[in-house]
Amino acid sequence: MTKDNRIIIFDTTLRDGEQSPGASMNEAEKLRIATQLEALGVDVIEAGFPAASEGDFKAVEMVAKALKKTQVAALCRATEHDINMAWDAVRQAVNPRIHTFIATSDIHMEYKLKMSRDEVVAAAVKAVSHAASLTPNVEFSAEDGSRSNPDFLCKIFGAAIEAGATTLNLPDTVGYAIPGEFSDLVKYIMKNTPNMDKAVLSVHCHNDLGLATANTLAAIRAGARQAEVTINGIGERAGNTSMEEVVMSLNTRPNFFPETTSIDTTRIYPTSRLVSMITGILVQPNRAIVGANAFAHEAGIHQDGVLKNPMTYEIMKPETIGLNKNSLVLGKHSGRHALNSHIEDMGYNLSDEELEMVFKKFKHLCDRKKSIQDEDIEALVNEGVLRSSQ
Ligand code: KIV
Ligand code: ZN
Repeated sequence: MTKDNRIIIFDTTLRDGEQSPGASMNEAEKLRIATQLEALGVDVIEAGFPAASEGDFKAVEMVAKALKKTQVAALCRATEHDINMAWDAVRQAVNPRIHTFIATSDIHMEYKLKMSRDEVVAAAVKAVSHAASLTPNVEFSAEDGSRSNPDFLCKIFGAAIEAGATTLNLPDTVGYAIPGEFSDLVKYIMKNTPNMDKAVLSVHCHNDLGLATANTLAAIRAGARQAEVTINGIGERAGNTSMEEVVMSLNTRPNFFPETTSIDTTRIYPTSRLVSMITGILVQPNRAIVGANAFAHEAGIHQDGVLKNPMTYEIMKPETIGLNKNSLVLGKHSGRHALNSHIEDMGYNLSDEELEMVFKKFKHLCDRKKSIQDEDIEALVNEGVLRSSQ
């Protein structure tokens, strides 16, 4: 268990992120993203699920060989065959991790696995013991953990620690948890799992109710020390907790969160762009932190405030995530001040009379046109200057 306040960032863009419909990546693309994630400073990269396909095996092997300092994890079911494949793929990494999982909720055990609780504990112990005979870096996940019986979770986590697991992961596999409830579950596990001080507790949240980041942050407040995340929040169904939201929440609210990460935040925006370009999954414009509108201001009152002091309407500086500057979007809500500042940036210097004329024309144009370009402004300025000089 990490004694300090450092949160281990476990990035699963290449595994759970790749499970987004249409996001599959080839080996070279996975390697390109892995290299970027290493530069970004993530602690662990889950590179894939080697037993899933030959391509995934090769991609994990390639990433494991190429990275210089980052831990590389390979996912596997709790079977000897899957674990051996995961190990073969990842063994050449500087610090390889085997990540094995089995479902622990009653619904998954009864209908999917058709196994009793005792059988599931026995399978988990066998799998973790086998993985631990290959590497000391073993993560065990209780799939559908948030819908599992809390006492059963403590029992299986305790048994996994005894068998050699060093990280225990509590997934909210179907994005069902609510922050207060999830935080209580984390506290319960921390308190009631035997030998919990010998392992790191991790959380892995899905976004089916739009609560993945909120649940992850609640779990961190409750003592979890590893957060499993993806870039842009891509992942199975509605996606996973997004790296940028968790890291920037911790960074932006240090009085609330004493926890820190090793992420170089200035690489967040370029990494987001790279993942979007490679996977073909577009980032919605209003997405927190990395969306095109995240640092764009349209309302006149907001633009005026931002021009006087950006912190009036910005809680983070765009440079901290690797964006050059914010943008004042010109539209029907913009005021004279923002328009004049934009015109000055374009190299014009208008008198009060000229500005007044241009501003009126600009407002009329905004009622007719959704997006105002620099060429439109240029035409208005030329027309305004001409008129006022007649
Ligand atoms: O969502 C989930 O439960 C998973 C596990 C395999 C960790 O992705
Ligand atoms: Zn998942």
